[in-house]
Amino acid sequence: MRSPRLTEFMSKMEPNSVAVIFSAPEVLRNADTDYEFRQDSDFYALTHLNEPESVAVISPNHEKHKYVLFVRQRDKEKEIWNGLRAGVEGAISAYGADAAYEISQLGKILPRYLEGNQKLYYRFGLREENDLRMIKYLNSLKAAIRAGKQTPSTIIDPSTLIHELRLRKNADEIESMRTAARISAEGHVAAMKACKPGMYEYELEALIEYVFRSKGANGTSYQSIVGAGFNSTILHYNTNNAQIKDGDLVLIDAGAEYNMFAGDITRTFPANGKYSKAQQAVYELVLHSNKEVIKMIKPGESFMALHEKTIEIITQGLVDLGLLSGNVSENIERKTYERFFMHRTGHWLGMDVHDVGRYKLEDGWRKIEPGMAFTVEPGIYIQPGTEGASEEFYNIGIRVEDDIVVTADGCEVLTSLVPKEVVEVEALMKESIAIAV
Ligand code: GLY
Ligand code: MN
Ligand code: MN
Repeated sequence: MRSPRLTEFMSKMEPNSVAVIFSAPEVLRNADTDYEFRQDSDFYALTHLNEPESVAVISPNHEKHKYVLFVRQRDKEKEIWNGLRAGVEGAISAYGADAAYEISQLGKILPRYLEGNQKLYYRFGLREENDLRMIKYLNSLKAAIRAGKQTPSTIIDPSTLIHELRLRKNADEIESMRTAARISAEGHVAAMKACKPGMYEYELEALIEYVFRSKGANGTSYQSIVGAGFNSTILHYNTNNAQIKDGDLVLIDAGAEYNMFAGDITRTFPANGKYSKAQQAVYELVLHSNKEVIKMIKPGESFMALHEKTIEIITQGLVDLGLLSGNVSENIERKTYERFFMHRTGHWLGMDVHDVGRYKLEDGWRKIEPGMAFTVEPGIYIQPGTEGASEEFYNIGIRVEDDIVVTADGCEVLTSLVPKEVVEVEALMKESIAIAV
């Protein structure tokens, strides 16, 4: 049936407006093979329809057809090869459209729904092929203009409104996020137990993704990062093909996608089950900043303040460890911590791993509100030759990333199932499991 997001969107549209939202396309990978289809998150949020070649037309002014879907036509032969389609009837009966048409009719029928509206919600610049179609449809209305009919003269980007809605998760969405986070955590726990020096990074990647899929996740919400030793210091490393050596740290950043919602967890553990002194010192610092920031989270706190707190703790810690010299505030001012910590403390999390929603509003950094979900993911990365670092710190790359949702008086940590305290991680790694094939 209709998504609650559709009703909300419709109620917030401007007077005399119509919205046109396209699905994601199928994308050719090579020869006869497509990339795995992933629906456009905005389209899915509004329609819950998981098919390509679909268009939603939202037209609150229309007497009867306030919500229209254009969909692929039923096709016996294609459905034998590629699976069932909703079709025009399904678009109405299962997805709650007031009217539905075959997508092949878009050029003929869509302009009729644009007519009579002053404003058009359409996102130009996202996919060129759709932009060209929309320009053609708008041009085809010229005759209607000459006949004195109203046609859209103002174009509004609908994503501003849709993204504000998506930023605040409702109860069902939070439940999906809990499941995505739980399955993600189970994958990380399995990897910690299975890891042994001599294994290859891809074996842990395979294990984690096996757990995701076998627990009912759709797959991953982004390419898994499994980096050992030097590779732990590369922020978006994902070749995952090196051998894991005794003494390495292993950084795994991987998340499951469940019901179109993303998990996003990072844990960093010692390949041999015991952190070295230098590894532990840096780890404790990153963990401390992760925990201190999580303690701060409550409605009304500024998103930027969380990042500032992380910078403060990490810079202080880097000075204490002798990795930075001089006083803390000078180092913060000169941003010397960026030699070691070069990304933000977190990002919105939802249907997209780097989810939508503005961080800064006209009057400053956004204050967090109940239902907003984001990651807390401080890190320190020390490649050989980093200014100020002695050799014992080389090849230490550490990130500790949790997923949280803001509640009425604090926050819920969705990823607490996967341990992060040194003693817990080391104890878990003793419960070793073998990867059987
Ligand atoms: N996995 C990407 C990130 O943590 O932001
Ligand atoms: Mn991550
Ligand atoms: Mn993240």
